[in-house]
Amino acid sequence: FNIFEGMTCHGVPEMVIVNGKICVDKNKVENARVVNYDSTLDNAVILIENGTIKSIGKESELEVPQNVQVIDAAGRYVLPGGIDPHTHFEMDFDGTVTVDDFYHGTRAAVAGGTTTIIDFIIPKKGESLLKAYDDWRRKADPKAVCDFGFHCAITWWSPSVSEEMAILCKEKGISSFKMFMAYKGLFMLNDFELFETFERIRDLGALAQVHAENGDIIAKNTEKLLKMGLTGPEGHQLSRTEDVEAEATNRACTIANQTKCPLYVVHVMSISAAEEISRARKQFGENLIYGETLAAALGTDGNEYHDKCWHHAAAHVLSPPLRPRQGTKETLMEMLASNVLQSTGSDNCTFNKEQKELGLKDFSKIPNGVNGVEDRMSVVWEKGVHAGKIDPQKFVAVTSTNAAKLFNLYPRKGAIAVGSDADIVIWNHEATRTISAKTHHHACDFNIFEGMTCHGVPEMVIVNGKICVDKNKVEKMSTIPIFNPQSPYLGLIPGGLRVGSTLRIQASIQGFANRCQIYLQSGAA
Ligand code: URP
Ligand code: ZN
Ligand code: ZN
Ligand code: ZN
Repeated sequence: FNIFEGMTCHGVPEMVIVNGKICVDKNKVENARVVNYDSTLDNAVILIENGTIKSIGKESELEVPQNVQVIDAAGRYVLPGGIDPHTHFEMDFDGTVTVDDFYHGTRAAVAGGTTTIIDFIIPKKGESLLKAYDDWRRKADPKAVCDFGFHCAITWWSPSVSEEMAILCKEKGISSFKMFMAYKGLFMLNDFELFETFERIRDLGALAQVHAENGDIIAKNTEKLLKMGLTGPEGHQLSRTEDVEAEATNRACTIANQTKCPLYVVHVMSISAAEEISRARKQFGENLIYGETLAAALGTDGNEYHDKCWHHAAAHVLSPPLRPRQGTKETLMEMLASNVLQSTGSDNCTFNKEQKELGLKDFSKIPNGVNGVEDRMSVVWEKGVHAGKIDPQKFVAVTSTNAAKLFNLYPRKGAIAVGSDADIVIWNHEATRTISAKTHHHACDFNIFEGMTCHGVPEMVIVNGKICVDKNKVEKMSTIPIFNPQSPYLGLIPGGLRVGSTLRIQASIQGFANRCQIYLQSGAA
């Protein structure tokens, strides 16, 4: 209710300065080298108003309004904000909850240049999908400081699940479903159930995702290793070797082809699994099979499981595991470069030391997951662009645009274009930063990239037109919800077609950033 409802007022606060900072919603980025996935525009000006990009062009061609805050981007790349299509914030994993919640997780995302995340709703076996959806919205809505969407996991199969999937697609804007081929007894589906869920997803015009590992083989190997007395974190890798991932990847691609359901394989961690995707794309089509790899797989490797420090090794436990095979990091980057894989996620799923200690006597009880949402962009730049394997346009594709297309957020997200959300990163490719748990913005106590020096620093991050990171300093962001379920963007996005598909599917954006209220320590008139 507003007690002044309907009253028209003369007098508009056009610019507000709080402790020396301009807090209006008009920004002009000048001298910009604007990089999209398909173009680079030098010396451009971007005008931002009310959270969206109003115009782009040369200074002389544009009508620049008064009272704009001017941001000089000379010598910098100006990129679409990153999209991390794979996070698990505040997720219960077999009885213990990830420490990065939607506040710390999205704040860390923004600090690293990611302005949209897509998290996973994971209903328990037997639980209603709609109830789980409500639970995740309750967790995310009051806390997220960047825009977010959801995928939904299918952890059991019944006629009611099938019905609720349609409601999630048609009424809630969910366009992708993840099935687990591992975590036997917890989340895993068998092939018969996978086949039926894929058929359902195809009929809904949505996208199937799989966690590809053979859960039965893992259960057997785990039993054997523990019986032999091998209880340490290295047992995690030994129980789920590359071939265990590759077999499931192959099986998922076969089911996708049999059902003609488009498939996105999440967290491809090994050369063998990526080779399966490459083969399936050639055989079944590039519009049917897609793959994602992780910052973790590009930035670190399976030798960490043999560290003499138990906590160090356990901190690297995620599934599928990091691989000891030489050349894995480099090959996965080359697979991104050659479009065998299309996107990069973080799978951010963080647990602290005491939580990892649940597996002190049994590696299979170590909660699975690592950090990555903050460092993904820097790691991909370092291992990709700085290493000379991809160019900045490809960087934009694999960190932002391709995810926007696959999850139907494009061109609202994933592009610097007129009408797109003003989610923008000013990237200083010449600056370096050294990653450390001492300085990261996560709630967790460990960083798997500790000590890694990356070229490429998100010097300024603009979320929905608001400057949220300025000169590497993350402003305090409020947690006031402004989610608007009536938003015209929920449901249909103009031009929002999944890449390569003729199906128009639902947009999956779920919530909008809690616009930052900036509390400033310094700044005098
Ligand atoms: O180890 C991982 N990946 N934890 C998160 C759950 C999943 O499988 O994505
Ligand atoms: Zn997974
Ligand atoms: Zn250590
Ligand atoms: Zn995951």
